[in-house]
Amino acid sequence: MSSVHVGGVEWKIYNPQGKRRVLVTKKLVGDRWLRELENADCRVEVCDSREILTNQQIAEAIGDHCSAVIGQLTEKWNEDLFGILKKAGGVVYSNFAVGFDNIDIPAATKHGIPVGNTPGVLTEATAEMAVCLTYAAARHLLEANQYLIEGKYKSWLPDLFLGQQIYRKKLGVIGTGRIGSAYALSMVRGNLMDIVYYDKFTNKKMEEQLEQFNQYLKQIGEKPIEYKNASSMEQVIREADILSLHPNLDSSTYHLMNAERLKLMKPSAILINCARGPIIDEAALVEHCKQNPGFAAGLDVFEHEPALAPGLKDLPNVVIVPHIASATFWTRSAMATIASLNVASILKGYPCWSSGDMTPFVGEPGGNGESPSQVPPQAAPSILNAKELGLQSLQPSKAAL
Ligand code: GLV
Repeated sequence: MSSVHVGGVEWKIYNPQGKRRVLVTKKLVGDRWLRELENADCRVEVCDSREILTNQQIAEAIGDHCSAVIGQLTEKWNEDLFGILKKAGGVVYSNFAVGFDNIDIPAATKHGIPVGNTPGVLTEATAEMAVCLTYAAARHLLEANQYLIEGKYKSWLPDLFLGQQIYRKKLGVIGTGRIGSAYALSMVRGNLMDIVYYDKFTNKKMEEQLEQFNQYLKQIGEKPIEYKNASSMEQVIREADILSLHPNLDSSTYHLMNAERLKLMKPSAILINCARGPIIDEAALVEHCKQNPGFAAGLDVFEHEPALAPGLKDLPNVVIVPHIASATFWTRSAMATIASLNVASILKGYPCWSSGDMTPFVGEPGGNGESPSQVPPQAAPSILNAKELGLQSLQPSKAAL
């Protein structure tokens, strides 16, 4: 396979005779995404580096002709970069992520560039990681593991690594979109927890599911759980034994958990974040965890990723993992497929899919998304600025599946 060196990094070239040049700034998961791009007559150049690319490196790689880019959440897709892409003949950009706080969407719209993301397929994987971090933080999992590895385990002891029990405690959730509600249902159903949540809208679908769960609990002679949409975020923060954050990151949620709000939490509470790092003031969290050894946190994301706030990694009551919540094979390959279909479909002039349901493109979670049993709809799965750009939309009911 041929490759080129641009911007000090190597780019592998697939389908070199393809008519449209598409850059992919990291090697993606699975190989269906590559087939979809090759079938759309694309020459695909994939960056081989595992380092974060600078905008200068991306601009050099775009050069003077490039039809589209699939980029990463670690890159800053700003006005300059969209201007450079436009000048090179670029007609579409897709993030390999559901989150899009790294993208200046109004700037892309100004340059007439549709911006794609990869929703719907990260829900279960991300919720599962939030569950994982919750248990790990509640039960000193990593500390206990380290203790064993270091040969410190000499005897079973009555008070060794006493943790927090989760069963029948109160769960707090801020933001009950797809991921927040999947996490909430998993925790509530698994541990018979009461739940207090905060969201601009009452989550009727989640409440219906909680009500059905209560019917089931009554049938088996168990006390029903309580659920409520709180009137303020502070109420959730005060009442929760476990608090998980699931809002989008924007100016209204930046440092949503600051020193003041952390102080409102119970001293024995557990705070979980699998959304975006800057939602928590990380320096304030370090201080709070130092002051409250009974408090615990589980974090997948960090304020200045990949850097950690000074002192964070030395805290015994904090469990940290490197932004891997969506890292299951199914999810990451489905994300790759959606990103490639965003690009391929716009290049082919297809309309935009107007539903959040990604199953027609990638099948059911856990299925074989790499070899789907059906041909995907002729539509770009998720274009964030479709409306602003006046792009045609395709109703799922009209799609020839
Ligand atoms: C992951 O964090 C994503 O936004 O896809």
